[in-house]
Amino acid sequence: MTTPVRWGLLATGDIAHKILAGAALSPDIEIVAVGSRSAERAARFAADNGIPRAHGRYQDLLADPEVEAVYVCLPNSLHHAWTMKALAAGKHVLCEKPYTRHPAQVDEAFDAAEASGLVLQEGFMWRHTPQARTMLELLPSLGEVRLVRAAFSYVMDAGYNINVDSSLDGGSLMDVGCYCVSAARLLLGEPIRVSGEQVIGPGGVDHRFVGVLRFPEDRLACIHSGFDADAEFLEIVGADATLRLPDPWHSVTGLLYRGDEEIRVEPTNPYLLELEDMNAAIRGERAPLLGRADALGQARTIDALFRAAATGTVVSL
Ligand SMILES: NC(=O)c1ccc[n+]([C@@H]2O[C@H](COP(=O)([O-])OP(=O)(O)OC[C@H]3O[C@@H](n4cnc5c(N)ncnc54)[C@H](OP(=O)(O)O)[C@@H]3O)[C@@H](O)[C@H]2O)c1
Repeated sequence: MTTPVRWGLLATGDIAHKILAGAALSPDIEIVAVGSRSAERAARFAADNGIPRAHGRYQDLLADPEVEAVYVCLPNSLHHAWTMKALAAGKHVLCEKPYTRHPAQVDEAFDAAEASGLVLQEGFMWRHTPQARTMLELLPSLGEVRLVRAAFSYVMDAGYNINVDSSLDGGSLMDVGCYCVSAARLLLGEPIRVSGEQVIGPGGVDHRFVGVLRFPEDRLACIHSGFDADAEFLEIVGADATLRLPDPWHSVTGLLYRGDEEIRVEPTNPYLLELEDMNAAIRGERAPLLGRADALGQARTIDALFRAAATGTVVSL
């Protein structure tokens, strides 16, 4: 990399801190500005994290000529609107997952990005890890894949947060189940029909969601997300062997198990990896790992799962 990419952060929440820690590991990623709804919060966040410029309105960050690329880390319901504004301002965008549950918004955003020659990517950091790459390399050794089981569930602290707010597109499927959807689609392709069950809790959002997805050639996936129990794993059941990842989403351990055989990869900060991938795409070195087709598949599947759970029917895609 020759010239560092100059990034601006759109919001000051939890994940903004994690992206900062990833960015700090590379001299090619400069966080030059932060935007917040509050000038005071922006100034404090900038001072605490050594960021040169602070903006008290999101639109001011987008108007900042020093900013080349924007990391959108707003609540889910705001992703699309602010991505569209960032693209209109001529900025590349890495937008946190899930980009949206509305497929039409994916097309609108990628149409805008392509028309302006800008890079847009949905931020699924787990896809960038050496562990995910090793998983794909091991796939042929499992024989024909029959079933994928994926879980991402945690015990949420009591009280308000954006994930229990239905007006901000909260809920466990949106927050963490989208990772399970991402894994099932990566391993099996696009689902042809889905069914789902959800348990609605405080805030009117799903606090537990279980989905069953059917793919071509009789391949199946079962996904589980939740706010009321701890469960994280990804299991790929092949005709000859089963591959199990106990820590698939954050890849802190870098461990995979093919049957009883332990396979260990070097864990790498996944936020650094997704930023490096964006940098390379912005500098024209390669296409981003995740593009329109992936974001569209995500939105279609999530939308179908919600419809299936709401109506108690099997939804075909
Ligand atoms: N990839 C990952 O590992 C990962 C992990 C966690 C979250 N995420 C995603 O990142 C996004 C943000 O999550 P987070 O955990 O950082 O959330 P958070 O801590 O609640 O932060 C969200 C930020 O959005 C801004 N905001 C704008 N409108 C808001 C509103 N109406 N209510 C609350 N905040 C509002 C706030 O910043 P200002 O007040 O400064 O404007 C707030 O700090 C979500 O889409 C989530 O799915 C990804």
